[in-house]
Amino acid sequence: MTIIDDAWGLHEGHFWLRDRHPDRPVRFDETTGMWNVYGYPEVMRILGDPKTFSSDTARTLPPEMQEPTEGNLVQMDPPLHGKLRKLVSHAFTPKVVADLEPRIAEVTGELLDALDGRDRLELVADLAYPLPVIVIAELLGVPAGDRHLFKQWVDGIFDSSRQFSLRDQSEEQVRDLAYVREQVTHLTDYLGEHVEERRRRPRADLLTKLVEAEVDGERLTRTEVVNFANLLLLAGHITTTMLLGNTVLCLDAHPEWFGRVREDRSTIPAVIEESLRFFSPFATLGRVTDVDVELGGEHVPAGELLMVWVAAANRDPRQFADPGVFDPTRDPNPHLAFGRGIHFCLGAPLARLEGRIALGMLLDRFPRLRTDPDEPPQFLASPNLTGVRRLPLLTSAG
Ligand code: HEM
Repeated sequence: MTIIDDAWGLHEGHFWLRDRHPDRPVRFDETTGMWNVYGYPEVMRILGDPKTFSSDTARTLPPEMQEPTEGNLVQMDPPLHGKLRKLVSHAFTPKVVADLEPRIAEVTGELLDALDGRDRLELVADLAYPLPVIVIAELLGVPAGDRHLFKQWVDGIFDSSRQFSLRDQSEEQVRDLAYVREQVTHLTDYLGEHVEERRRRPRADLLTKLVEAEVDGERLTRTEVVNFANLLLLAGHITTTMLLGNTVLCLDAHPEWFGRVREDRSTIPAVIEESLRFFSPFATLGRVTDVDVELGGEHVPAGELLMVWVAAANRDPRQFADPGVFDPTRDPNPHLAFGRGIHFCLGAPLARLEGRIALGMLLDRFPRLRTDPDEPPQFLASPNLTGVRRLPLLTSAG
């Protein structure tokens, strides 16, 4: 049933993509020293109970690997998490995001104009990467023209196929982590300069709002603002890039659905939701046990690091009938690709809107699109992501 082709370079550890199921929903991994959680009910329980399952995962790392995480919403616990989230949540409500529609359509139109008359395109470089990065850069207030810089650093952060291990003392892992830290520092230095600039000269952008925001009567520190902005910049584009590429790939592999979407654009939202379930961009989320727990028939002591595989939970047959089938008619489709609970993705309305507009306009421009048999799609190497890195397509002009 699987549509996976070995030539795509999907990570070997992602067994669920090959229609295999784990023998146990929770399993300790001796080589990494971490717990893998694969089952839907178990993942739901973890994401719904931040008191027991903390997001402050940095504390499990050896001291030499720790970095300042203050301001990084995704690694924070209540009550501070809720206070910080409130500072920006109004910028991402469905209503506010809906107002971005004309600008998203304009950027998409310009990117597609550049492809006029071409008999082939590379979806990621030509549309799926630049669109979300331009949108989030404009929201934050950093120059979208600097995106070649972010790309270089962000690629460096997610390029490795190695799974991080708490038990690996090898020089390679230390070197890999140092390299990733260096790329993060480039990003945070870059954002830091913009933060300083906003302190001197406020503007009408999200960065200025973060600089001026107060929690319990106090302004955020420079590190908090920078880490918060960094999360928005990163989370605001890499995942949406993957979503767009993955969705077109799903449609290419299911021509009956490609046909239906072309005939009836109102099916796009359901296609996007099913693509998120089928190929979940953030395959795994991190949590730490604050107390001893029984989970999926296992005893997990306090202080353990959990890899919460939402991508595997989204293929759990206890929740989804025929999980290996791409079926946009699933209703409801309670996938966990945007997480669940207090950390539910803040950018979900934006990602869905960008996906809907970009896909619709792409289909309008190209009456025929198909993958190139001579140049198969390539997936990202990272064990923690599921996303197309390159998707060469032949157009109707060819
Ligand atoms: C959180 C996925 C797009 C901003 C999350 C989480 C997931 C996720 C799974 C939960 C993390 C956790 O519980 O540990 C995705 C996917 C996207 C996407 C699959 C696209 C398809 C975006 C966009 C933004 C964004 C466009 C834009 C601004 C955030 C933020 C958080 C978050 C700020 C942290 C929320 C919190 O901790 O309270 N995302 N995301 N995401 N996402 Fe997204």
